[in-house]
Amino acid sequence: MTEKKPLLGFIGQGFIGKNYSDDFEQRGYTVIRYSLEEPYQANKEHIRECDIVFIAVPAPTVPTGKKRGDGHPEVHFDGSTIREVIGLAREGAIVVIKSTIEPGTTELLQAHYADKLILHSPEFLLETTAAQDAKHPERNIIGIPKDTKEYREAAERVIALLPKAPYTLICDARTAELIKYANNAFLFIKIVFANIFYELAKENGIDWEVLREAIGSDPRIGPSHLDLHLKDDPPGVMRRRGAGRSCFIKDFAELSELYAKTFPEDKHAIMVLRGFEYKNSELLRAADRYINLLEGVYGPDTGKK
Ligand SMILES: NC(=O)c1ccc[n+]([C@@H]2O[C@H](COP(=O)([O-])OP(=O)(O)OC[C@H]3O[C@@H](n4cnc5c(N)ncnc54)[C@H](O)[C@@H]3O)[C@@H](O)[C@H]2O)c1
Repeated sequence: MTEKKPLLGFIGQGFIGKNYSDDFEQRGYTVIRYSLEEPYQANKEHIRECDIVFIAVPAPTVPTGKKRGDGHPEVHFDGSTIREVIGLAREGAIVVIKSTIEPGTTELLQAHYADKLILHSPEFLLETTAAQDAKHPERNIIGIPKDTKEYREAAERVIALLPKAPYTLICDARTAELIKYANNAFLFIKIVFANIFYELAKENGIDWEVLREAIGSDPRIGPSHLDLHLKDDPPGVMRRRGAGRSCFIKDFAELSELYAKTFPEDKHAIMVLRGFEYKNSELLRAADRYINLLEGVYGPDTGKK
């Protein structure tokens, strides 16, 4: 006998929600899609019918309007949309948060919504290849807020639903949450590093392209995030100045804030993280790229000389 397929819900129909929902449907699942766009708005009440509800709505990091002791704009994670939409899932439903969330968020939400099982599954797809990445994820990670048989079974159930991935992990929710921030922070640093070395190379008459290829051919480093060209750059022009897009700026700011709150006395580590933030903001300002995103995270003056 084959087990009846669970009815799936997907709240949020952006890059993650649309592509995962399409893939689930192509594999024979029924998905109720709810988001702010038409035609999905009308499905709000139907989320209550779903056995497993995935969530991929925005979870921004925004300025508090205050400055920290070192003059850096204070930011905070805003999980209010996630908190609001979880209430749409019925009692006993499994809720899987795909949005990137500050470490500790799953535990807090689970305490607030004790009638549902809340899990976190960090997402690694790229906007440029989202449909393909959703079909072939590189990692399926499920974070559980409590290490019990019930949560482990729920996590196994979710992993069985997701497209197969070469790497699978069930871990505590805080680890799952931090994996995504650590990943993005590492790549953010790599982009800023590439920009700094590009300037140094240029000033010293060194061909950055040769340097880049040689550095990236070290398997411990790899070629990704060192290329400063954008697709439509004319030859010799490199406009990828700074780490931008919707995730890099907010996730690095969040991680840096978390570190500063956790270790307020560790001045040098805070200085290192802030240094990357300031340099990145400066690069983005100079290239006039992602200014709205930058100001959405830090407020109006960041990166201005
Ligand atoms: N885009 C990426 O490459 C990517 C990769 C990994 C993780 N993430 C994270 O995943 C999350 C979502 O990203 P995305 O790119 O899919 O978002 P998106 O901006 O493309 O789409 C967001 C969706 O959420 C819906 N939404 C917003 N508020 C809502 C509400 N109150 N009720 C119902 N629906 C609502 C919108 O209508 C939209 O369909 C973010 O936390 C992001 O950081 C994104």
